[in-house]
Amino acid sequence: MHELDRYIYPHRMLHWLVAVAALLALTIGLTLGFLGYESTVNLLGNTLTNVLYTSHKTLGVLILLLMTLRIITRLAFVVPDHEPPLNTFERLVSTSVHHLLYGALIVMPLLGWAATASGGFPVEFFIWHLPGFIGEHEALSEQLFMWHERVGWLILGLIVLHIAGAIFHWKIKRDNVMKRMSLLD
Ligand code: HEM
Ligand code: HEM
Repeated sequence: MHELDRYIYPHRMLHWLVAVAALLALTIGLTLGFLGYESTVNLLGNTLTNVLYTSHKTLGVLILLLMTLRIITRLAFVVPDHEPPLNTFERLVSTSVHHLLYGALIVMPLLGWAATASGGFPVEFFIWHLPGFIGEHEALSEQLFMWHERVGWLILGLIVLHIAGAIFHWKIKRDNVMKRMSLLD
């Protein structure tokens, strides 16, 4: 396949980095959300619990950075045409899922950041503490965490649809959709 028939390499690389980071962030986030702080400490101990919180926040901030770069590579470079073309249904569903994923993956880290800061917790990124930007406000933090959870379920649903679509194109329709995002030749 000709290079112009795929997304440019940096965009494909960003896709897979965000995919891995988002799946990890969701897995850790849902574990922490499901158990809550106290039960996580009882089950896993203090050190591991802190590692999980720090990794989750770090992955989230990383996703925000990678998605910003990705919006640039998406807008600045030509998006290859589908060959063969998608039908109207496929085009509508895939474009909606892609746009919702872009939006949700930007909104989600901002919600997590604001919820954490307003709850009086540190916004950690690897070994650094990032500025919170908003002051402590417990009721606001609770609302923001509630939306952080809701958008989390939305992202999970979109990813399930997205992966089902990718497998459909790859294994059943056997068209070129998978190649457009593949890092392999
Ligand atoms: C795309 C990025 C992110 C995803 C997909 C994500 C996903 C999630 C999910 C699904 C939960 C579980 C919600 C629940 O069941 O209550 C969660 C919890 C949490 N998230 Fe995120 N998150 C992201 C970014 C962030 C960021 C950037 C921060 C902070 C800097 C953050 C801080 C937290 C905290 C502290 C919790 C635990 C809340 C609790 O203990 O109930 N998240 N996250
Ligand atoms: C095993 C997992 C995955 C596979 C096989 C896969 C496959 C693909 C393929 C083949 C495309 C190109 C579609 C097209 O050109 O029309 C694509 C695009 C896309 N994927 Fe995935 N993907 C996976 C995981 C993910 C995850 C976890 C996310 C989100 C966190 C994601 C977000 C996107 C987005 C937003 C696009 C739109 C194209 C763009 O980046 O501009 N993908 N994916």
